[in-house]
Amino acid sequence: MADTLTGRRIIITAGPTLEPIDPVRFISNRSSGQQGYAIAQACAHLGADVTLVSGPTALPDPLGLKTVRIETALEMLDAVETALPADVFIAVAAVADWRPANRAEKKLKVDKSGFTGLELVENPDILKTIANRNENRPGLVIGFAAETHDVENLAIAKRARKGCDWIVANDVSGDVMGGSHNEVSLVTTDGVEHWPSGPKSAIAAELAGRIADALMQNA
Ligand code: C5P
Repeated sequence: MADTLTGRRIIITAGPTLEPIDPVRFISNRSSGQQGYAIAQACAHLGADVTLVSGPTALPDPLGLKTVRIETALEMLDAVETALPADVFIAVAAVADWRPANRAEKKLKVDKSGFTGLELVENPDILKTIANRNENRPGLVIGFAAETHDVENLAIAKRARKGCDWIVANDVSGDVMGGSHNEVSLVTTDGVEHWPSGPKSAIAAELAGRIADALMQNA
């Protein structure tokens, strides 16, 4: 059978990350986790041993795979590195680019305690970190690129900048984030391939099949 992932280990990040400011406030984003969860399920459906590293989402843990729940980008990177080695790494998560430099132990008071503003520091780029590992770099590293314009050219540049093998590029000028449908292009060494619009589950199934084919060719 051509499209099998039996015996393959796949790590997938999904959802947003949540970066605490104090016990009640945080920085996050609107990622629902749907596309990442659908890819995790599609890979598990083809027999892969999947670890899904997920930020906070409203979705239940998918059946038939291991879900590791984290909150911050630092925790996400740690969970991915702990799950290595793997044949494939797919970074679908909308990782917060910045986190508060300090997490206040008590709720910040704007008036009394002299709050002077929020200092932010850059989060690690999980995709770039995993793609550039010397040891235990997964054979196939896949990133996502959500853009509102010039999608394909930006994705080609992103593939080179991150050091990953494939980029799944999507146009988020519509209601993709949180919606059930997606329209993507796949950027590989062979060029750019535009896929028809479809449910996130269909995009996930197509991607899982492509991964199985690619691993088979390199076997
Ligand atoms: O640079 P940008 O955020 O557009 O890149 C998107 C891709 O990089 C996605 O695959 C996302 O999961 C990944 N990423 C990451 N860690 C970050 C930022 C983005 O893994 N800190």
